[in-house]
Amino acid sequence: MIVRRRNIIHKGALYGYISKWISNSLIDGEYIDKFEKAFAGFANISEGVATSCGIHALSIILEFFIKDRKNDEIYVPAYTAKVIKDFLDLNNYRYKLIDIDPERGTMDARDFEQKITSNGRIALITHLFGNVCSHEVINLAKKNGLIVVEDCAHAHGASVGTLGDAAFYSFDHCKLINTFTGGILLSENMELIKFAKMDLAGRSKPGKIKLLIKIFSGLLENLIFGKYLLPFSFWILRHEKYLRKLKSSINFIRRDNLKTFHRFTNFQACIGLKQLEKLDRTNTSRYSKYKRLLNHFNENVKFLKKTNGDVIYYMIVLSKHAPNLKKDLADRGIDSGIGESIMYPLAKKSLKQYPGTLLAINNYVQIPIHSKVKDSDIEIIAQIINSSSGQIPDKKGKVV
Ligand SMILES: Cc1ncc(COP(=O)(O)O)c(C=O)c1O
Repeated sequence: MIVRRRNIIHKGALYGYISKWISNSLIDGEYIDKFEKAFAGFANISEGVATSCGIHALSIILEFFIKDRKNDEIYVPAYTAKVIKDFLDLNNYRYKLIDIDPERGTMDARDFEQKITSNGRIALITHLFGNVCSHEVINLAKKNGLIVVEDCAHAHGASVGTLGDAAFYSFDHCKLINTFTGGILLSENMELIKFAKMDLAGRSKPGKIKLLIKIFSGLLENLIFGKYLLPFSFWILRHEKYLRKLKSSINFIRRDNLKTFHRFTNFQACIGLKQLEKLDRTNTSRYSKYKRLLNHFNENVKFLKKTNGDVIYYMIVLSKHAPNLKKDLADRGIDSGIGESIMYPLAKKSLKQYPGTLLAINNYVQIPIHSKVKDSDIEIIAQIINSSSGQIPDKKGKVV
């Protein structure tokens, strides 16, 4: 059984939790400052403020820059995490959806250019699946006087974080750094950093038990989809409805609601720091697996394009027969994602206006690329893709 996304769990997490609890430094302590400095240094930026989660960092950034929620427009990719939409809707922000370039998964420059108005205030550019948003989009935003906010939730270690006015990362369970939820805000804007620090200072501490439950929910997921529960894992993989329910229940345990954000803790900073030290190694290993897999295909099999500066967070193959490919992979115990289970189309009703997003929903298949994927698994995945995906759609969804 190979799951599509696997928590990168720091080996000493539970021990770290207990020892920090005993030494009374679970919540407050020296590691928060160390982690903020180390992460900012890693991203080549002066200041970072660790937050409860990525959305918490985004909330601070929007609160700081948006003066008039009714009129100020935020440009958001039409294909991204659902929580972005939930957060914007909950807080009555005004936003406009921009289609994606389906070959890269990031914002499409043409669509963006057409939609910018004089009310434009912020461009939220997402480096989806580790793919850096195009400089064409970023330059367009800057040329039009927009504030550029980078969503780096999928791009730890990519050449990002300094491309705009502010950036945020997520350290949720399946991210390239996992601190059992968490995030960081980065910026050179010292007023914003001051504002963020004030926000954090006013937040309450998370409960020790809640933190422990979050750790267990991560371990539980790895147990359910690990070798010890194999018959059950196989069964649930073939029953999409139950699989989704199970995953959303585990997510529910982890995520705080979108209003009450807590402080990032000393314990999380401590394990985050250790993973940050290994991040280059993590990314290199994923990249070599990606390359090994690519070696099995000719140009008829299309993957999301990668360029210099990207990292491999999700690996996406474009398939004309996405549901069949998913089924063929599941038959061999390989979990893959299609449709909304990968990312979410923020425009639910009229997807025809977003052809790039429509293509992503119909034709993207996410395949596993994490640390537990072995060379022999890569061979099997390649065989299945070669025999099952067949024809690949072009930009307009036509078969080439
Ligand atoms: C693209 C993207 N942006 C933002 C977020 C939000 O991050 P967090 O879950 O840490 O709030 C996520 C979470 O999965 C995401 O995938």
